Amino acid sequence: MCYAIPAKLTAINGQIGMLDYFGEQRKVLLDETENYQIGDYVFAQGGIVVSKLEEAEALAILDAWKDIFFELKRQDQELAQVNLQTASPNILSILQKANHGQEITRADAEILLQLQHPHELKVLYEVANAVRQKVHGNASCIHGIIEFSNYCKNSCHYCGIRCERDIPRYRMQPEEIIELARDTMQRYGFKAFVLQSGEDEWYDDAMLEKIVSTIKHLGALVFLSIGIRSAESYQRLYQAGARAALLRFETSNAATFEKLRPGTSFNERINLLRELKTMGYIIATGFIIGFPGETHAETIGNILLAKSLQPDMHSFGPLIPTVDTPLASYPKLTKAEVLKVIAVTRLLDRNSNILVTSALETLDASARKEAFLAGANSMMINLTPLEYREQYAIYDNRACKLSVDDAVSDTVQLLFSLGRAPTDLSMKAGN
Ligand code: 5AD
Repeated sequence: MCYAIPAKLTAINGQIGMLDYFGEQRKVLLDETENYQIGDYVFAQGGIVVSKLEEAEALAILDAWKDIFFELKRQDQELAQVNLQTASPNILSILQKANHGQEITRADAEILLQLQHPHELKVLYEVANAVRQKVHGNASCIHGIIEFSNYCKNSCHYCGIRCERDIPRYRMQPEEIIELARDTMQRYGFKAFVLQSGEDEWYDDAMLEKIVSTIKHLGALVFLSIGIRSAESYQRLYQAGARAALLRFETSNAATFEKLRPGTSFNERINLLRELKTMGYIIATGFIIGFPGETHAETIGNILLAKSLQPDMHSFGPLIPTVDTPLASYPKLTKAEVLKVIAVTRLLDRNSNILVTSALETLDASARKEAFLAGANSMMINLTPLEYREQYAIYDNRACKLSVDDAVSDTVQLLFSLGRAPTDLSMKAGN
């Protein structure tokens, strides 16, 4: 199974290229234009061409995909039907508006987040799924995540790897990280790697540059998730080949942020996110749902702050109260609260991808499928070696126990059952 479908480069105009996937067109960024020519077969991730492959290899992969590609699309379309007849009068006009292509307002979003009745939630999820289908087709991005260090200098009140916590700590050596990326790329075809850690200054810029540049040159999109570093460091890492950054702002409430993240600054984080965007990074950002005292209005503020940062991908998940942290005895959210946030995010920001996070899966093992049917279209597969994974205890009982082999087959099964395909075809050319 390959985690990306190759495409043919059909036009080049400066740094912008046009890709053809079985007749569908998609605009892409060509990072190193000198390496590509019209007619080349390439892999793209997040709207960026990451590698080239031989025609014979591309044709063999495309041949294996060609029947299933259209069958999956048909299946996705079938699953994306909406039956608005069951919508109550108070939400009908909002859902109709969303279903007809308009973005909803803050007030609409607040009404939707209050919904409780299962039949109302069902229709909300259906509309969000239909919007996802219309805007993104059946494309799903699947990234591999490597959690390379659980050392962290911060002491966030919710986080299980906060520095005060007495847990076994590990650091993967640069070579180990690179080899893991190389191996999982060869074995499973991953084309995008999220490199995540606590805020760990043991990895200096030069070390990170080497990791980033080697993995980029393997032909993959490198996604950094390393927390706050100086703009200069991020600039150097961009030059080394990193093209995406996952950095949550955690909450749009600056007072809550500073209370739960002692010694860190809300403005610094938001400013860094803006700078990363300006540098050219693809942004993934978001928040934790359900901090103490959070209202629905605040959750909507979180979604809208994320949207204002122009993310390629939204990443948010429920708070999982974790032993040995100040929020240990705080209540958990229900699955429906999280699915509602996914659906409402889809209606507030139609064009971005929405990630299904492992915090949601931890809340409920069956939630991943429901999330994909409520507006989400991306996920990550955990590649961290099992001996470290348990120690990356950002919260209790994380849903990440499967071996990479099992996680890959599990994911393929899920995606195929939903008519989804791992292409970079989300948002067609011209959008
Ligand atoms: N529950 C849910 N998410 C958490 N994170 C950290 N601790 C928790 C928790 N207890 C999230 C934060 C961080 C991401 C890597 O993990 O949002 O940005």
